[in-house]
Amino acid sequence: MTASSHDTVRALEWADEALYLLDQRRLPEAEAYRCCRDAPAVAAAIAEMVVRGAPAIGIAAAYGAALAARTAWREHGAGWAAAMADDLEALRRSRPTAVNLAWALARMEARAAELPAGEDPTPALLAEAHAVHAEDVAANRRMGRSGAGLIQPGSGVLTHCNTGSLATGGLGTALGVIRTAWADGRLERVFADETRPWLQGARLTAWELAADGIPVALLADGAAPALMRSGAVDWVVVGADRIAANGDVANKIGTYGLALAAREHEVRFMVVAPAATIDPQTPDGEAIPIETRGAEEVLSAGGHRIAPAGEGVGAWNPVFDVTPAGLVDVLVTERGVVHQPDAEGIARLVAEGG
Ligand code: MRU
Repeated sequence: MTASSHDTVRALEWADEALYLLDQRRLPEAEAYRCCRDAPAVAAAIAEMVVRGAPAIGIAAAYGAALAARTAWREHGAGWAAAMADDLEALRRSRPTAVNLAWALARMEARAAELPAGEDPTPALLAEAHAVHAEDVAANRRMGRSGAGLIQPGSGVLTHCNTGSLATGGLGTALGVIRTAWADGRLERVFADETRPWLQGARLTAWELAADGIPVALLADGAAPALMRSGAVDWVVVGADRIAANGDVANKIGTYGLALAAREHEVRFMVVAPAATIDPQTPDGEAIPIETRGAEEVLSAGGHRIAPAGEGVGAWNPVFDVTPAGLVDVLVTERGVVHQPDAEGIARLVAEGG
């Protein structure tokens, strides 16, 4: 079996002049698509978590920018560039932590700036969005291969959140490494944290792995340190939403605790992310904006209130946390692998990409 046979789900598709997003809030019960025909619809889908995962929201935003240009050209003709500014701003604000979103919009704006005012910008910007999408698919494959090569045969891995086809354009980042390592016969055991409160691990990662025929054991997030202590895990493999210039990593809440437990139990810690996730403008983890969502996400589960109702019971619901670079053993990107990432290693990787 090859890794490519483990790559069937598509979170986003461009069809019939619109962006179709697999509604990830409804998985695994229902496979329903939301059709977005303009940029505000894409911005709303990102904010509401119809589409989620750093690379996937970057790709969605790129298509959203192409849709913004289409609307602006239809309504304002040669004034399209200025007319699409509000739509771009709404896309930029749809979620704050994953830098892939801002990166994709900056790329689309740079392409838009090259286009003549008097011509319909839609075909060129749509082609750019397709390129962003296709490059992510290719990056996933390269990361999968290099990350899997670091894993010794017979290993156990633990992952967190969802970093697979649902979170990217293709095979996935951390899950791409796991898929490739499984296809290579290197993995004995795959574990996934359920990932409260949105349950991306239980609902999405387990769904993707089950579809691939890769056995997975789910665990409550709080069980991870005990699992590491048991000796069943050799690698924790996670994705990232933003990597600061010094190598600090923002990822799904709970990642920092995994990194601490991994260091204590001599389990290796791998971060897998495309170069677009590296933000050289953000000096360190302290400067990464961390999204906080509503209290009801923690006070409820599966649509049912689990905490006592009434005054005095609130919640703290940061969506991401920051793992200091010193706890990361290896960063895998499509441009190469950085062992013990730090400011120097990150700067070298960024410079190599031109
Ligand atoms: O809130 P989410 O589901 O968008 O968070 C996703 C994650 O934290 C992923 O680990 C990260 O985006 C990397 S996905 C390849």
